[in-house]
Amino acid sequence: MKNFLKIFLFCISVTICLFLIKVTHMLLTSRAVVVKLLPASDKEEKDIFELFSDSYKTDLLVSGEFKDIQSATRSAKEGTDLRKKNPSEHRVYVIQDMKTNNKVGYLWWFPRSCLPNQVDSYKKFAHLGFVYILEKYRRSGFMKAAILLTEKESRDLGYVAMSLSVFQFNNPAKALYESLGYKVNDKKCNERKCEMIKELVDDDYRVVGAATY
Ligand SMILES: CC(C)(COP(=O)(O)OP(=O)(O)OC[C@H]1O[C@@H](n2cnc3c(N)ncnc32)[C@H](O)[C@@H]1OP(=O)(O)O)[C@@H](O)C(=O)NCCC(=O)NCCS
Repeated sequence: MKNFLKIFLFCISVTICLFLIKVTHMLLTSRAVVVKLLPASDKEEKDIFELFSDSYKTDLLVSGEFKDIQSATRSAKEGTDLRKKNPSEHRVYVIQDMKTNNKVGYLWWFPRSCLPNQVDSYKKFAHLGFVYILEKYRRSGFMKAAILLTEKESRDLGYVAMSLSVFQFNNPAKALYESLGYKVNDKKCNERKCEMIKELVDDDYRVVGAATY
């Protein structure tokens, strides 16, 4: 009986130790990233769209979507001009790290109806137009947290899904979207570019993929 008690107490102590080790490990490795989306000032907005235009132009050339710089420049301008359609419905944000107050990146989203040639079924879709994290802050979880906040915001405004477009060569961006549950829309995917979509609510309008940050 005494031996049984000893073994029992030993097992309990080992279980408690293992539990404490796991909790300590979780606390040490957790990246509780909290960000705030600050509406961009006029000056910031101008800088953000310049950055968008430059990087989109480069991406169009790198992906082979356009071969000459003039066509890529024209297409990038069409992209930045999208914000002129229903301007009040576009959200242009500076992403702020709540821990340090550093401004770490940018995000632009808008109703998908602002894109040209949209069909009715996309009426209640939101669209991510541009996401960017300054190089030194990458891979810290900032964009994941920012997109989750954006999904919540668009869901609260009645949007049922979020769509976006990503170049096939952009592996970091594809990995980011996949990690958030975005799925490739096979109907709008070629060797250069892919559309990805995430449903934000289910058929009964219940939240899907709620923010964990
Ligand atoms: C793509 C980009 C926005 C990612 O932002 P980020 O803040 O660094 O991403 P996060 O730290 O939130 O990453 C979340 C997850 O995405 C994936 N991911 C992000 N960057 C990755 C990389 N370089 N390689 C592989 N996976 C990556 C990982 O799954 C990561 O989770 P993990 O770090 O726990 O493994 C950033 O690299 C960027 O600004 N790139 C230049 C602009 C750009 O390409 N925009 C996208 C246009 S469609």
